[in-house]
Amino acid sequence: DDEADLQPRAPIVTIMGHVDHGKTSLLDYIRSATVAKGEAGGITQHIGAYDVMTKSDKRVTFLDTPGHEAFTAMRARGAKVTDIAIIVVAADDSVMPQTREAINHAQAAGVPIVIALNKIDKPGANPDKVREELSVMNILVEEWGGKYQSQEVSAKTGAGIDDLLEKVLLEAELLELKANPDRKAVGTVIEASLDKGRGYVTTILVQTGTMEVGDIVLAGPHFGRVKAMTDHRGKKMKKAGPATPVQVLGLTGAPQAGDKIQVMETEREARELATQRQQL
Ligand code: GTP
Ligand code: NA
Ligand code: MG
Repeated sequence: DDEADLQPRAPIVTIMGHVDHGKTSLLDYIRSATVAKGEAGGITQHIGAYDVMTKSDKRVTFLDTPGHEAFTAMRARGAKVTDIAIIVVAADDSVMPQTREAINHAQAAGVPIVIALNKIDKPGANPDKVREELSVMNILVEEWGGKYQSQEVSAKTGAGIDDLLEKVLLEAELLELKANPDRKAVGTVIEASLDKGRGYVTTILVQTGTMEVGDIVLAGPHFGRVKAMTDHRGKKMKKAGPATPVQVLGLTGAPQAGDKIQVMETEREARELATQRQQL
């Protein structure tokens, strides 16, 4: 793409951390707080990716990976989808093996880190102890003169979550994230499943370009014509631009998380490439 075609895009954020430190709770809180603000009620269902508008009216896209295994698997498949990693550490616990792993994965991928010190509502919470433990791994937080932003939060009460999102947006500004919306879409498969009734449902993240209903797509060894697209609330969409997560109906099979998805010129071309890939 020419520099002139690039436009600012929303950051794509993954939440990682040790078991039970509150990744899902944090994602749920962020989603429900913003879903509640939104116009359409929609059914709350599991979805691998969603986007929200912050209080400051900026869009942020979250990937709800089941954990850093998925993050690693995607990386191993060559998919680079995350711009920023939120590392969650329960403030009533400690930096744990999977906290370290998550930090190592983010650093290996060159993804900036924002620390969320969660469960601050708990009587036993000691965020300074966690900051100390992080400093031992060279993750020195800004308040202590380091470069890492951290935020005390509670996924239970919602305390600090708006501030956490603003810190993520600050990090995003530094990255100057851009994409070209005016081209055929390219993205990554986040998850796919078979829904008896709707057929294959593929959650994808559009990374560049704009996907439209009617587009012919190739996704790993599968292809199809986009019959319908919905957002994480089940609301129908006609178009999905860069950094937009979307559920797509119409593929002829379920691709794997991390598979690349791209819009093709013709169905014949898509079918040929899909067939070739199936024979590999
Ligand atoms: P895994 O996906 O199993 O690794 O766990 P997780 O990191 O997604 O943690 P999860 O959100 O499942 O939270 C684990 C437990 O901690 C649940 O019982 C949550 O209700 C609780 N919890 C999470 N965040 C908070 C918080 O901010 N305050 C309190 N008091 N409890 C929390
Ligand atoms: Na859990
Ligand atoms: Mg979880």
